[in-house]
Amino acid sequence: MLKLAERMGRAKPSAIMVVAEKAKKLKAEGRDIISFSIGVPNFLPGEHVYAAAREALAKDSGSYGSNRGPDALLDAFLKHLRAGGLDGYERSNIVSGVGAKHVLYNVMYALLDEGDEILIPTPYWTSYVDIADILGAKSTLLYCGPEQNYKLTPDQLREALKSKPKAILFNNPSNPTGMVYDHAEVRALADVLVDAPDTWIISDDIYNRMIFDGLGYAHLVKARPELRDRTILLDSISKTYGMPGWRVGMVAAPTMVAQALVNLNSNAITNLPEVVNAAAVAAFAGPQDVPEQKCREFQGKRDQVLAAFAAIPGVNCPKPQGAFYVFPDISCAFGKSHNGKNISNDVDFCNALLDAKGVACVPGSAFGEPRAIRISYTCPTAQLPDGLKRIQDFFAEMS
Ligand SMILES: Cc1ncc(COP(=O)(O)O)c(C=O)c1O
Repeated sequence: MLKLAERMGRAKPSAIMVVAEKAKKLKAEGRDIISFSIGVPNFLPGEHVYAAAREALAKDSGSYGSNRGPDALLDAFLKHLRAGGLDGYERSNIVSGVGAKHVLYNVMYALLDEGDEILIPTPYWTSYVDIADILGAKSTLLYCGPEQNYKLTPDQLREALKSKPKAILFNNPSNPTGMVYDHAEVRALADVLVDAPDTWIISDDIYNRMIFDGLGYAHLVKARPELRDRTILLDSISKTYGMPGWRVGMVAAPTMVAQALVNLNSNAITNLPEVVNAAAVAAFAGPQDVPEQKCREFQGKRDQVLAAFAAIPGVNCPKPQGAFYVFPDISCAFGKSHNGKNISNDVDFCNALLDAKGVACVPGSAFGEPRAIRISYTCPTAQLPDGLKRIQDFFAEMS
């Protein structure tokens, strides 16, 4: 009998896409749908990015490129790191890939053998656990509920490190919660990590330019530079520059890890397209007015979403300070019903809300927190009040 590899039994599609697909189908049937589901930034990059892409097209070399990425891209990313306060990296530390998801896959592939333990603060971005599953690694979920603002505490971390895990994933700002660890919180976690010399740190920083309230971009390596030798930093043009479909992810890592990633690229993708590389160079190294403007806009939208949830009795909504997500605890709805439909969990809640009000959100269980739902608020500004009002009405109509 023909069989797939055993590991494919552990590979599953992203839970986020399932909701997005359902919303898309309803829209195609003519329903008035407001989507708060997928994490797309919903804006386009500046004109200089398109100009760079057009110029690259006109000068097409017609050949393969570097497995690491062209020097211009490595240098542009180094400039971007320095602008974020991360000095001391060189070209030999940098590698590109097909989006942060691809580079994360490769980083986990390069670090984790079957059975190796990886710590994942929870709520988590779905792919962390899904990739670990495919690789046969053991995810240890460190639960950080709304009571602790969805953030990992130093005590929790210290306890979890006792088993000497192979790696930890740290995502700041966070998808799905939008939470941001401030300088003091990052410093406290970094102090604990310094005492765990056998553990790699994967720092997913792809929302690092979307931080609100003047909080600033704190980083484990900035807090304790000695962590640099075992920290792998992930970034991407997807969110910051409104370029998710262009598929450029970047890594800054110790040279041994960076070289391993180059070797994987040489066996899997060879290189990113020249046009895409040129656009990414322009995004990282060019004018930053579009991401800065969008960050201000998202902060305003975050305030609107928080105000709407504050007006719903029983909902607990920790205040996010980054990315473009809000992650309210809606468990007060469990045990109630809407239009005769019982709501016993987050999936029932999202299905009933989509059916009754045409609003698509992602159930928190997709991220390991079944008491919450994720709202991605990048929809057109004019749609936001309507979508929020529909959620308020939905709650008010529940019995
Ligand atoms: C936390 C986090 N990491 C990585 C990614 C992947 O980003 P990319 O589009 O660069 O693959 C996402 C995308 O949603 C994300 O939210």
